[in-house]
Amino acid sequence: MLKIAPSLLAADFACLKHDIMRVANADYLHIDVMDGQFVPNISFGPPVIAHIARVTPVPLDVHLMIEEPERLLGDIFAAGRGKIDCITVHAEACQHLHRTLQLIKNLEVKAGVALNPATPVSDLRYVLPLLDRILVMTVNPGFGGQDFLGETVPKIRETAQMLELAGIASEIEVDGGIDPETSKLVVAAGAGILVAGSAIFGSTHPQLVIDELRKAAEVK
Ligand code: DX5
Ligand code: ZN
Repeated sequence: MLKIAPSLLAADFACLKHDIMRVANADYLHIDVMDGQFVPNISFGPPVIAHIARVTPVPLDVHLMIEEPERLLGDIFAAGRGKIDCITVHAEACQHLHRTLQLIKNLEVKAGVALNPATPVSDLRYVLPLLDRILVMTVNPGFGGQDFLGETVPKIRETAQMLELAGIASEIEVDGGIDPETSKLVVAAGAGILVAGSAIFGSTHPQLVIDELRKAAEVK
């Protein structure tokens, strides 16, 4: 089943609860944490996540774009108040990726690793057994509203092949520039979770866009 995760980064931050309710038919709410170091942008952290967790009707899919994310794992988990489905860290931001994944698993939430467009899929080969989710970035992380990078499509396919060969059933998630058109490309390549920010929150009918994105599974 294809899953849709609206990225709250594209919501109106002055009306977060209102916008969270506008996407209540989604599977997850995607939460982008940015530190101004790993990526040039700064978004929000645990105090805001605590408020989001209080009102969200769907589980949180947390995407950490921060250096040494292990420093914040405890605070993020506590802020999520039982609402977190998965915590995803960037391979490029972790000195000891294997250990960081163990820490996430110890919190009893799903563990994910995100890869920047320039990072090879093979970097994940020896951590596959710890991975519930692989997030293939389809833009360079840091900002919403960027153009989809077509060169990431073969990379999604390569990720699916690697998982199949290893006999591991991790989910493949994509993030960046996903709209009803690009969704067809990524789903055909093997993506099972679609993150979309501007395509969903930029619409006057976000719930309809979510339904439309789900249809990408039908053209597979
Ligand atoms: C980018 C973030 C994305 C972003 C996607 O670094 O990880 O989740 O919000 O936004 P769109 O869908 O507008 O490209
Ligand atoms: Zn994201």
